Parts: sequence; C-alpha cells; structure tokens
Amino acid sequence: MTQTTSTELAVSLTGAVKAYGSVRAVDGLDLSIPRGETVALLGRNGAGKSTAISLMLGLNEPDGGQALLFGRPPGETVRQGRVGAMLQDGRAISRVTVRELVTFIATAYPEPLPVDEALELAGLTELAERRVDRLSGGQVQRTRFAVALAGNPELIMLDEPTAALDVEARHAFWHSMRMYAARGNTVLFSTHYLEEADDNADRIVVIDRGRLVAEGSGEELRRAAGGTVVSFDLRGRGSEGLGQLPGVTSVEIHGDRARLSSDDSDATVRALARADAIHGLQVTAVSLDDAFLTLTSRLEPAGSARAASSPRLERTR
Ligand SMILES: Nc1ncnc2c1ncn2[C@@H]1O[C@H](COP(=O)(O)OP(=O)(O)OP(=O)(O)O)[C@@H](O)[C@H]1O
Ligand SMILES: [Mg+2]
Repeated sequence: MTQTTSTELAVSLTGAVKAYGSVRAVDGLDLSIPRGETVALLGRNGAGKSTAISLMLGLNEPDGGQALLFGRPPGETVRQGRVGAMLQDGRAISRVTVRELVTFIATAYPEPLPVDEALELAGLTELAERRVDRLSGGQVQRTRFAVALAGNPELIMLDEPTAALDVEARHAFWHSMRMYAARGNTVLFSTHYLEEADDNADRIVVIDRGRLVAEGSGEELRRAAGGTVVSFDLRGRGSEGLGQLPGVTSVEIHGDRARLSSDDSDATVRALARADAIHGLQVTAVSLDDAFLTLTSRLEPAGSARAASSPRLERTR
C-alpha cells in the first residue's frame, strides 16, 4: 500500500482522456491502485466508469495520457493472463454448459484456477451442467464472474458486477470477491451505490463527467459531502449569510426549511444559536446516498474538480 513505483502499482492511469465526439467520457483521470487493494469506482450513469475501465484494459486507446497495468501497457499484461474482467455489456456464448465455458476460458491461461474452484467461488457448483443460454440474468452474471476468475488473475476489473443480482446473490458475490481479494489480489469494481462501495472496497474513487471528484473511505466521503445536516425552520427569515456560518459546506432551502450541510455541526449550531432564536432544529448525519448526490452534484465546487479537498457547494433552491 505504501509502495508507489510503477511496477508495484497494479493499475495506473495518468491524465487519461477519452472523447467521443464532443463528449469527454474520461477527462484527465489519474488513478493509482497498489497491488492488493480493492477500489470502487463510483459514479452515476454516464460518469465515465466503463470508459475508464476500457482504457485500463487496453480495449480503448486513450486520446491523451497513459494507462499501465503492473507497469506495462495493458494489452501486454492482459495477454500474460494476469488480468480478468467482467464487462458491463459482455455476452456469454450459448449452447455450452457453464462448466464447458469456464473450462474453455481456463485453458487459454498459463496457470488457471481449477475449474471447480472458479465455479465454487462464483456460486455456480449447482448450475455447472446447465446450458449458459438457459440461465437467469443473475446466473449469467455469476457465470461471467467465474469466467473473469478462470485464469486465476492477479487483478480483476468488474464493471457493475452486481447489476441484475438479487439480495442473496449480491451477498454471495461480495463474499466471493472478498475471498479472492484476501489472497493478495487486486480488484477494481464499478458501482452506482456508495453503500456497496463502502462495504466492499478499501478505497472509493468518485468520478463524474470523466473526472475524479472525491476519493477516500465511505466515512471520509461523508465528511467531504458535509458530514452532518443541520436543519431548522426559517420562519420568514432570509437565507442570506447561512453559507458563511462556521462549518457550513452547502445550503439548501426547501419551502420554509433551511438545510445546511456542515463538517463541524457543533460550530454551526453555536453560531446559529448566537444569531437568533432557532426553531425546529434537527442535526442528522448525512446518509451515504446524500453524500453521493452532493459529491456528484451538477454544480461545480468553486474552482476545483476535487471536491474532497475543499467541498463548497452552494445550493439555494
Ligand atoms: N462508444 C461510445 N460512443 C459515443 N459515446 C460514448 C461511447 N461510450 C460511452 N459514451 C459516452 O461517454 C460517457 C461515459 O460513458 P460510460 O459508459 O463510460 O459511463 P458509465 O459511468 O459507465 O455509465 P453507466 O453507469 O450508465 O454504465 C457517456 O456520456 C456516454 O454516452
Ligand atoms: Mg458503465
């Protein structure tokens, strides 16, 4: 975790840019993942997660910047069988059984996982003899996970691996993923859900419009998004000056109620109490969902794309 030489890094994206016409899907993204770390790439639809993953896998060439896997060009590392992937739009081939498919993939690698182990890790032991075209959506997803693991790679990249999985399958999936990571392997997965990222990753990287907007643990992101919400009734008083109160990182007005995000709620409440009588005061921890929405708010933090370092989102609706 402390080493940062290029060969110690499983993944390194430096200033990566990928544009489709006028859309900069990835727009100057830096991302370093040391060996053994599990990183979640968090972002809403269209944030650039899949494009970033395609650059890291060498499926797309960046228009600018560089992608390296274990210090080498991605294509080279992938050809060595050191990388497994589960793409968002991947299709499983049909008319073969789950076991036949995983066996076929495994033979392409120099040191594959035993097929039974890959099936077991993906929770497919019972379905091994089922034809791939007769699986449910969630079962197909698990088959794709088994395919990603088949070569016993050191690094796996999973693009929204739990889409289409029910609660139980999700649970089983994350358990398998953590077992794989616990062997010292490196994992990058993308998701829309901060909670899922927080539960399963060592570090969360939030991207929006192709750029990194925040990174850290779930708790750090919660703080960066304004760790606490202080709300109260305005009772006719205006909202001016609320954004300047100590600790306040953003202000929202809903009808007659003010909602201040604060990274120092004690200071905010003291200042409010000094200013005038406050009514209907509520102090609550920001939810992970709220933190995500704040971090990926369409309004830019002043002067910087990195909200984590200094989030100041003024919102007065
Ligand atoms: N092949 C393509 N041609 C044109 N535009 C593309 C292409 N691939 C992606 N884009 C655009 O680039 C942006 C980023 O897309 P990307 O698929 O990387 O987002 P994402 O974060 O993976 O989204 P989702 O959560 O919906 O999977 C979007 O605006 C998308 O429309
Ligand atoms: Mg995607």
